[in-house]
Amino acid sequence: NRWPPFILLKFALESLCLNKKPMNHPKEEVTFLMIKPDGVKRGLVGEIIKRIEQRNLKIIALGMEKPSRAKIDGHYPKDAAWIHRLGEKTLATYQKYGYDAKKELGTADADKIGKLVRGWLLDFMCSGPVVKMIVKGVHAVDMVRKLAGSTMPSAAEMGTIRGDFSVDSAAAANRDKRSVHNIVHASETPQEAQHEIAYWFSRKEIHDYKRTDEELTF
Ligand code: CMP
Repeated sequence: NRWPPFILLKFALESLCLNKKPMNHPKEEVTFLMIKPDGVKRGLVGEIIKRIEQRNLKIIALGMEKPSRAKIDGHYPKDAAWIHRLGEKTLATYQKYGYDAKKELGTADADKIGKLVRGWLLDFMCSGPVVKMIVKGVHAVDMVRKLAGSTMPSAAEMGTIRGDFSVDSAAAANRDKRSVHNIVHASETPQEAQHEIAYWFSRKEIHDYKRTDEELTF
């Protein structure tokens, strides 16, 4: 036999999937959703929860709090790449609408602008109570982002939370030196969801249960 025994063993283990993490059923996926101060102050809490539940997604944790600036600071990433991307996106908006970033913000440097925008975001997110929740169900991360719609409300499709209830844009927000008011925050990936869930909830605040319609709907 020309294959060394350890390679044969590796093949055997791989074919039995013994060295792979078992994949969870798609209906076991969880995500984190937060209704931002603008959504709470506009009385959209019930409307947003209704849309989640009618999509057959299950709320397994729910709470309201007025976060401190430090709490929000720990929620949003602060690595150089994330800040740079935020600055680049803002610069692209300025270019698109013919605004002079240097004149309006005092700099055209993506990193400095990213920091500035992150600061506006922190100010906004601790300006009032937020409603936080964990949502569980088939492809929860993607489904909740679909319900939320595009980050910039002016680009969000009708029928989505942002598309139906907001028309804000980066161009308008940055003119007023504030964060975009886009009603909700939703985790982007299952990994981000795990991190955000652990950041906002303790284990005893999470309540899984069976919905009466579960067997028929998925
Ligand atoms: P969220 O999904 O909470 O993640 C990052 C947030 O930054 C985003 O929603 C917006 O509220 C805000 N944001 C992103 N880009 C800009 C921008 N150019 N100007 C102001 N706020 C922004």
